[in-house]
Amino acid sequence: MKLRTIALILAAALCLSLAACGSSAQNNTQNNTTQLANTANQTENTVPANNTTNQTENKNRVAKDGAVMQTEDKSMPTRVPAENGTKINMYFGDTLITGVLNDSETAKALISKLPITQHVSRYSHDFCGVTEELPYNEADVHYGWLNGDIDYALNAPYFTILFEDEDVSEQYGYQVNIGVITCPLSDIAALKGDYDVRIELAEEAPASQKSDAAVVYFSRVGNTDFPANVDAVSSASLLSDGGTIKGNAQMMAEWIASEAGCEAFEIVANDPYPADYNATVDQAKTEQRSSVRPTLKSDLSNLEQYKTIYLVFPNWWADLPMPLYTFFESYDLSGKTINVFITHEGSGFSGTINTISQLEPGATVVKGLSVRGGSVSGEEQNIRSWVRNNK
Ligand SMILES: Cc1cc2nc3c(=O)[nH]c(=O)nc-3n(C[C@H](O)[C@H](O)[C@H](O)COP(=O)(O)O)c2cc1C
Repeated sequence: MKLRTIALILAAALCLSLAACGSSAQNNTQNNTTQLANTANQTENTVPANNTTNQTENKNRVAKDGAVMQTEDKSMPTRVPAENGTKINMYFGDTLITGVLNDSETAKALISKLPITQHVSRYSHDFCGVTEELPYNEADVHYGWLNGDIDYALNAPYFTILFEDEDVSEQYGYQVNIGVITCPLSDIAALKGDYDVRIELAEEAPASQKSDAAVVYFSRVGNTDFPANVDAVSSASLLSDGGTIKGNAQMMAEWIASEAGCEAFEIVANDPYPADYNATVDQAKTEQRSSVRPTLKSDLSNLEQYKTIYLVFPNWWADLPMPLYTFFESYDLSGKTINVFITHEGSGFSGTINTISQLEPGATVVKGLSVRGGSVSGEEQNIRSWVRNNK
């Protein structure tokens, strides 16, 4: 009789633990008793997630804190992956869900165990399964998540990929963010049921499978010797990226290369343009009037191996900057697709698509995006979406 009672207590404890994962799955409003931070699974110094006082106290520990977020493209994860994060592949049967893990203590411990097979089940806002215990830093523990987050939930513990409901997620506590998926949220939301997910490091593609695309760009910054004290705030058309001055076309080129998974090559003229903006504007006009072909420092003969070229440049006097004429007259891009991206301050593409088609008659010239210089910093997701949708 005693043995039966003990067995019943153990079974009830196991059910409670599993219900905590399921809770993240079911209707939030109905499941306050079985949330991720289920009190039955908390250690003495933890607090219930649905305790509003503690939620207020812990406001500085929610998922948003410290996260670099994008909010332009709701179809993609909110958190921008850690720049030097570890890329992983997660195989849900035949479906590949890609992700990037961060450098938290927990993520590092998981990375050291890869490859692993993790059992997960689908719930209303996550795929979740009990996982091996991993170390964590108390300072990384927070409430809530951002859509697309890969989290380690301390109660149980659970491995969870949260693809929905970030707006109401702060009622759930005791999570450590270990990364984010990098594919559209709908890819994972479309999956149903249970999976033994194989999680492995994403291998660097062998040379033979490397991208058949390349970005080629021209930007004023790379073609100007600015004085060391030039600053992006007072200088028209310059962007500051973590303290580094960047041109608008350069910024766009970097996003395109990152999205396409390919290299970016810059067109650089031998003679730099003047640091003074108006002097450059005047010089460009003079060059255009006399059809100058500035000689190039860049050797771009390796473009031969690529099928797709993303070309990014600024509109100069309703035309291509003259170094681009030199570029097109130096390299035959026949057989390639040229996706054209322009940045400007009102003139859009002007006649540049026709001009490029005439200069490269054997290439397929595709109108990409035209982005106002002043709006470039807010256009990252649009630019990335274009690349994704036109691969
Ligand atoms: C020499 C020069 C000529 C320009 N001519 C035009 C123009 O005709 N139409 C326009 O909309 N913007 C014009 N602009 C603005 C640039 O196209 C715009 O600021 C662009 O975002 C700069 O990109 P970058 O930082 O990569 O050089 C000109 C800029 C320069 C420097």
